[in-house]
Amino acid sequence: MQLAATTPTDVVTPLLTVEEALAGLDQARHNTLALVTHLTHTQLEQLHSPLMSPLVWDLGHIAAYEDLWLAHRHASAPLLRPDLAELYDAFETPRAVRGQIEMLGPPDAFAYLQDVRARVAEIICKQGVGDGFAHEMVIRHELQHSETMRQTMMLGGILAPGEPSLSPLAGEDQWVDVPGGPATIGAAQQTFSYDNERPRHTTAVPRFQIARRSATNESWMRFTEGGGYERREWWSDEGWAWKEEYDITHHPDAADSHPQAPVCRICWFEADAFARAHHARLPTEYEWEKAAAWTQQTSLAGLGQVWEWTSSHFHGYPGFSAHPYREYSEVFFGECYRVLRGGSWATHARVATPTFRNWDLPQRRQLFAGVRLAKDVR
Ligand code: AVJ
Ligand code: FE
Repeated sequence: MQLAATTPTDVVTPLLTVEEALAGLDQARHNTLALVTHLTHTQLEQLHSPLMSPLVWDLGHIAAYEDLWLAHRHASAPLLRPDLAELYDAFETPRAVRGQIEMLGPPDAFAYLQDVRARVAEIICKQGVGDGFAHEMVIRHELQHSETMRQTMMLGGILAPGEPSLSPLAGEDQWVDVPGGPATIGAAQQTFSYDNERPRHTTAVPRFQIARRSATNESWMRFTEGGGYERREWWSDEGWAWKEEYDITHHPDAADSHPQAPVCRICWFEADAFARAHHARLPTEYEWEKAAAWTQQTSLAGLGQVWEWTSSHFHGYPGFSAHPYREYSEVFFGECYRVLRGGSWATHARVATPTFRNWDLPQRRQLFAGVRLAKDVR
């Protein structure tokens, strides 16, 4: 007898099996712990920058997030530590106050991570993972925090030896021509994606040019020595005001880094000025995604070493609907944030997909971010 040739559309293939969920959680935890093993308790508790959390807050937050989504919301269990929920909620306890409040010390934070994980693993084995969405989200959440923690460690000068690991970009600066025409933007339905990557839609992207390489330290030095931080006409009003207020005159380490490696840790204002100095502009995120999809033809160099600033503000795609973690993206939509694309040396491959949208404020310099120029074709 012949089996039905079509799959009923209401049967959803789970994103993860039980084994894959457990392995993914395990791998994320392995990453987190490997990141902090060489640190002292003081380094974990210290406020390395007023912009960032003490590292030990990230640890408690990772545990609380996992407990909230996988034990409480997904499996209806009571929170393991309801008394910690507010402290480790990113919105109830914003970064600005995380330096001044009581939180679990390192041994208790490690124990909390461990206790949550033991209970979650037990629940997963008993009840399965449903469609696997919450589990994939929690795995990626922990992986995302290892990049956040590396930003903190960079500012504190306590990154592990060999980090940041940025390699020289081969070849030369060249423009790559991307033909005009429709581009399909956003994540495919059958894969895990964040709400901000949906719905997938097609949009017209006119012909443009994009730099084959992201900007190098050498090009940043040329910009700086050519008056990059002095020529008013290259800066936006907001960018100039930011630069004057904080007396920004140069990049923190472009001069001491490999000339052919991508410049890393520039803010959007700097990226924007750099583009104007080159009679160019930042790509829109649609252009970026189209070029990345074309990468076999275009062989863009340096993807995945530094995040790339785009000119796009962070908005929902047409037809956006929040799911199920409303605070992940929707609260950040608007004109304040700019979108970054790609991923950095510190971004786990599971997170850095071609449709992933990162975002931050235009003055933020602690991200592992650089710039790839774009241009209209006339
Ligand atoms: C996607 C990097 C902007 O850090 O604010 C971590 C990721 N969200 N925990 C952030 C995130 C909640 C998010 N970014
Ligand atoms: Fe988080």
